[in-house]
Amino acid sequence: MPDYNIKVNGKSLTVHVDSDTPLLWVLRDEFDLAGTKFGCGIAQCGACTIHLDGVATRSCQLQISVVDGMEITTIEGLSKNGSHPVQQAWKETDAETKNEISASLADAAALNAQTSAAAQKLKEAKEERASEKAVADAELAVQARQREEYATIQAALVELQANAVPTVQANILAKIEMLNNSKIGADKDTMEQINKEITAERANYNNSEYINAEAQLLVHGFANLVEDSNGETVLQDILNRYEELKDIVKGFDLGEQGGAPLGDVTDSSFTEE
Ligand code: FES
Repeated sequence: MPDYNIKVNGKSLTVHVDSDTPLLWVLRDEFDLAGTKFGCGIAQCGACTIHLDGVATRSCQLQISVVDGMEITTIEGLSKNGSHPVQQAWKETDAETKNEISASLADAAALNAQTSAAAQKLKEAKEERASEKAVADAELAVQARQREEYATIQAALVELQANAVPTVQANILAKIEMLNNSKIGADKDTMEQINKEITAERANYNNSEYINAEAQLLVHGFANLVEDSNGETVLQDILNRYEELKDIVKGFDLGEQGGAPLGDVTDSSFTEE
């Protein structure tokens, strides 16, 4: 344990205590200066106030190592003969009042501890609310992104629906062209068979009922791509597929040909959440 030198009430003194010993206990226990009182012990009530180099300071939370070499004045040192008004007032206070004061100081200390605990709880509640808000914000952001995705898909479906009939017709024309090409070098029976197939495809091309049914299948098939087997959105696949379909349509000169307008997509697996 080191030695500490302090001047107390004008006298230079040396004390041999642990460095973290509060000045209050040095004054009371080492120097018998019991006029400095213990109240709350947490530097709140003021019962332990002394003057440190002339400044009123609470001694219960002041470690001796911090005040080494400094000058301290306690209530006993306010005047040598006890004539200081504060000393007089303390003397005139009866024992009961002194006890009441001590009890009040203890109450104040307890209240202070409760207030600190409540303030800590409030701080924690605020932090918790802040993190709940962060989670809620993140959820809202996800929902907003989902809504954007669904809107994009819906728009793609509407456009696909508009192009579905021409796409089906383009597919039929491509098939007819392929059948025509396959006649080169064919024997008579094969040729007859191919011609029958070409006639059937031409009938399909002019049959609006057939065209519409195929177009509906195309739209519904496309719409069914909206969700994969895990129920997750596969937007990019859909949009890629849509680009492919648009290229097919672009490759043929369809003129004004087209069937009756399609109805709404009513029985696809696409559902907006
Ligand atoms: S005992 Fe030091 S302020 Fe209360």
